[in-house]
Amino acid sequence: MLVLLLSACTTPGDPADTGPTYYRDVRPILDNSCARCHTDRGLSTSFDDPASVQSLATSIQARTQAGTMPPPAPDPSCADYDGSDALFLSDEDKQLLSDWADAGAPLGDPATAPAAGPPLTTAPFDTELRGTAPYQPTFDETGNDYRCFVLDVGNTTAAYVTGFEALVDNPRIVHHIVLWNVAASVDLPAETGGEIGFACDGFGEGGWDFFAGWAPGGRPFLFDEGQGMKIRAASRLVLQMHYYESFEGAAAELDQSGFGLHLEDEVDTEIFALPLGVEDFQIPAGQANAEEEMFVPWSEDWAPVTIVGVFPHMHLLGTGFDFNVQHSDGSNTCVVEMNDWDFHNQQAVHLDEPVRIEGGDIVTVTCHYDNSATNPNQPVDPPQDVSFGEGTSDEMCYGFTYGY
Ligand code: HEC
Repeated sequence: MLVLLLSACTTPGDPADTGPTYYRDVRPILDNSCARCHTDRGLSTSFDDPASVQSLATSIQARTQAGTMPPPAPDPSCADYDGSDALFLSDEDKQLLSDWADAGAPLGDPATAPAAGPPLTTAPFDTELRGTAPYQPTFDETGNDYRCFVLDVGNTTAAYVTGFEALVDNPRIVHHIVLWNVAASVDLPAETGGEIGFACDGFGEGGWDFFAGWAPGGRPFLFDEGQGMKIRAASRLVLQMHYYESFEGAAAELDQSGFGLHLEDEVDTEIFALPLGVEDFQIPAGQANAEEEMFVPWSEDWAPVTIVGVFPHMHLLGTGFDFNVQHSDGSNTCVVEMNDWDFHNQQAVHLDEPVRIEGGDIVTVTCHYDNSATNPNQPVDPPQDVSFGEGTSDEMCYGFTYGY
């Protein structure tokens, strides 16, 4: 009622009438697409204060027009997915932010601000798993710390995870998380002498199966009714944390992040995580447009697979990722398309429409890399040949694929 009254009172020429204002138009976009990193408790410059957002207007315009902010996400026009409206900025929203900056970044009337939505959570969980104690990161000279924590599911029989949600304790230092399902036969380093967790830049060889991934803004993942991922009896989940020194004093911060899980004893449909990708490649030093392609003609002898989600994964040199299915009838399904890539913003895509792969189809996963000296994410100077490997300065090309 109040809102109607106020807008009825505005006079022609008032910025509220003629163009976008901070409170009515810009704030909702920032809350939806930027606040997950840009708050007082986030990884980068806070957008909480209207005056500071105003002073950043041209920088916001430049970054959103260049497509570097928000960090790259799968293009929903390839295949739409849960949360795409928050992860991928539409052309209309980019235009609006640009018009607003051009108009001198007017604040407008606070009373015209739309109400915020409810917080996004699937709590309560059947179990919440975290490391044994709060951990204080030790950053290397590049400001990174990779640390693994063993999470004991405490299950004596197999259990099924029907949904999961990252529980991020300290968003100021948590850059991304990967959750691994590690077989009981794998020896993991013990926590002795007051150690909390263990250093782990890559992940173990055999017996480490991808389970879940998260980056700022990552959504809870609930499988459809009756679906779940198996965790074997007495197996451990390993939480691989990537901490980042995003501000001075970050090394004094503590974190005890984890995952909330929804569990069932049985499910109708077991979901598997298939690592579809390329494992034997070399990206020549200096090459700006390198491409690695996994090309799999799906055999008639293989069981059909229905894909419900994908977690694209590359390291620092990645610049794009495509996942495509060419069907035997000649049609084509775009599953994931990323025209850019940010190592720091990896997360699982939960497809709105599952994609079925049958005998005679061709699955293609393509990773694009820039191994030149001009790539701002190039970790070494001068560039070197880079091959497949688990360390951050090696490369990977996977679509960890959830399917049945
Ligand atoms: C996944 C995290 C993340 C999201 C989401 C995100 N940003 Fe950023 N942003 C960063 C980080 C980290 C930096 C600092 C590093 C850099 O400058 O690239 C940054 C820097 C910036 C800067 C420069 C800030 C300064 O102080 O100079 C601007 C402007 C910006 N982002 C705009 C946006 C806008 C607008 C959105 C939403 C449409 C957005 N960002 C969403 C992580 C994010």
